Amino acid sequence: MEGFAVDTRIDPDKCIGCGECVRVCPSQTIEMRGEIAMVTGEFSFGCGHCSAVCPADAITVGAIDTQALQLATVTDTEAYLAPGEFDTAALVRLMRSRRSCRNYQQQPVAAETLEDLVRIGTTAPSGTNNQLWTFTILPERSLVMKLAEGTLGFYQKLNRQADNPALRLLSRVFLKDVLGQYHREYQETVTEGIRTWQEDGIDRLFHGATSAILVGSRPGGSCPAEDALLASGQILLAAHAMGLGTCLIGFVVEAMKHDRSIKRLIGIDDREKIHAVIAIGHPNENYQAPAGRRRIQPRIVSGD
Ligand SMILES: Cc1cc2nc3c(=O)[nH]c(=O)nc-3n(C[C@H](O)[C@H](O)[C@H](O)COP(=O)(O)O)c2cc1C
Ligand code: SF4
Repeated sequence: MEGFAVDTRIDPDKCIGCGECVRVCPSQTIEMRGEIAMVTGEFSFGCGHCSAVCPADAITVGAIDTQALQLATVTDTEAYLAPGEFDTAALVRLMRSRRSCRNYQQQPVAAETLEDLVRIGTTAPSGTNNQLWTFTILPERSLVMKLAEGTLGFYQKLNRQADNPALRLLSRVFLKDVLGQYHREYQETVTEGIRTWQEDGIDRLFHGATSAILVGSRPGGSCPAEDALLASGQILLAAHAMGLGTCLIGFVVEAMKHDRSIKRLIGIDDREKIHAVIAIGHPNENYQAPAGRRRIQPRIVSGD
């Protein structure tokens, strides 16, 4: 099993032998030896469940930095909320009220708020708790524009390729028709977006956002894209609670996947993968109602 080196310590003088740590440990790192809990496993997720559940404050987990989630702009976030203790209606209202924001004010978002959003992002679960995610903050509009320019260059090149019927044919034979599919489904929209940007100065990519957070991964994770997107989800919700607007910008993610030079433009290492780009800013729109959704019919599997 993958995990951190075991760096968990149990103080035998404090342990009262309740066994709670053994019950919550996902990697069987701890065992009861008589009346005392002991670290006996060779692997640990480093999740900290044991120390969080211990009623005797007997456990320290070296892999965890208890200060890592301390926020600069939000207070009173330390106390644990047991299941059922939070106001579900308030949470659902928050979730339903978050909307992708495509109109922003020019006022920048404070750097410490963006850093807090990243810390909040890391409250997400991650496969085997490996937390191999990366976060890159672009705190200024000029940096967001630098990323936009790199993305623009990629799509201009892609458009030239997709305009070429011979390349589309080659793509159909050798590349699962990716160029043809782009040509049919996206090229017109992208071309129009580029035209309005160049001719009218309308930013259809970042929608005028003053900042952005890129969520990526370092090599080695078991499910890096899922980890990054879950972290992004936390950021989107927290940003809404803080009064900020956000929008995921998939067009930039796609460009960065294919053109490494865009990563270099903003100082991101080649080995990192970018899974989400979040435009962030002070919103300049006023909704009167929360979002609706298409109705879904979940499949309920019967036990009969
Ligand atoms: C993976 C992903 C990529 C997206 N890419 C873009 C994008 O490039 N530009 C954009 O304006 N919106 C983008 N969106 C936002 C979606 O259009 C938006 O979430 C959807 O229309 C639902 O609206 P809501 O977020 O307001 O609920 C993206 C959303 C997701 C989940
Ligand atoms: S949870 Fe704490 S007190 Fe209970 S067995 Fe584990 S170390 Fe001992």
